[in-house]
Amino acid sequence: MTEFTPPATEEALARLSMPMADAMRTQRAVRRLHETPVDLELIYELLELGLKAPTSSNSQDWCFVVVTGREQKERLAKLYRPLYRAFSPMERRAAAGDERELRRIAPGQWQAEHFADIPVFVVPCYRRNLKHHSVGWPQISVSSFYGSVYPAVQNLLLGCRAVGLGASLQTLPIWLMPIARRILGLPRDRVPVCIIPIGWAKGNYGPTTRPPIREVVHIDRFGNQPETGQA
Ligand SMILES: Cc1cc2nc3c(=O)[nH]c(=O)nc-3n(C[C@H](O)[C@H](O)[C@H](O)COP(=O)(O)O)c2cc1C
Repeated sequence: MTEFTPPATEEALARLSMPMADAMRTQRAVRRLHETPVDLELIYELLELGLKAPTSSNSQDWCFVVVTGREQKERLAKLYRPLYRAFSPMERRAAAGDERELRRIAPGQWQAEHFADIPVFVVPCYRRNLKHHSVGWPQISVSSFYGSVYPAVQNLLLGCRAVGLGASLQTLPIWLMPIARRILGLPRDRVPVCIIPIGWAKGNYGPTTRPPIREVVHIDRFGNQPETGQA
């Protein structure tokens, strides 16, 4: 384990006052993490900020499984490993010779290899609820369902960024959902939506690479992008 002294919880919480735009600009997937444990109180505080996010019909039907126990983490790693081992050679082959791409995929590989050593996993789950299915069209039901989870997840990611924790939003590690549910002891009506590995950051935060805003904004109707010369 690398020598690393995390900040005291009060000190970490004080960092939440960082300017919002700075947090947003520099929040990114940070996958290389110290093994040093993270105070559960800090995770509670960050999840509480997560809960300030909106939900469909104000349903607030989340639950968050916070995994810190070694045996549980080993089980999650065992679930992820076969998929990672199947997927990784393809990813490496596709990146061969491309230094930039190899640098991009390296943290994911590091993380997969050290999965069970990551201090905390948060698994946001949502309750499968008839309300979501009666909203109307299936696309809207799906949108309302997942859209009730991801705003809370983004709040959590921003909170992690501000206090100095590394985190990333992932779905692949819980790919075999029935097994993920069994590991987490979830009742039938709770759906695990993603998994967020969290620990003190080894890697750097942003800036992130995103397209220029005028390329992705359309005014009044799709295709109308006056400032890019498309109208
Ligand atoms: C819905 C969703 C699912 C994701 N699943 C995974 C995943 O399974 N594994 C992973 O390494 N990253 C996953 N990511 C993270 C993205 O790959 C990452 O946010 C993206 O590459 C941008 O990275 P950056 O914010 O560091 O620029 C997921 C992101 C989203 C929004």
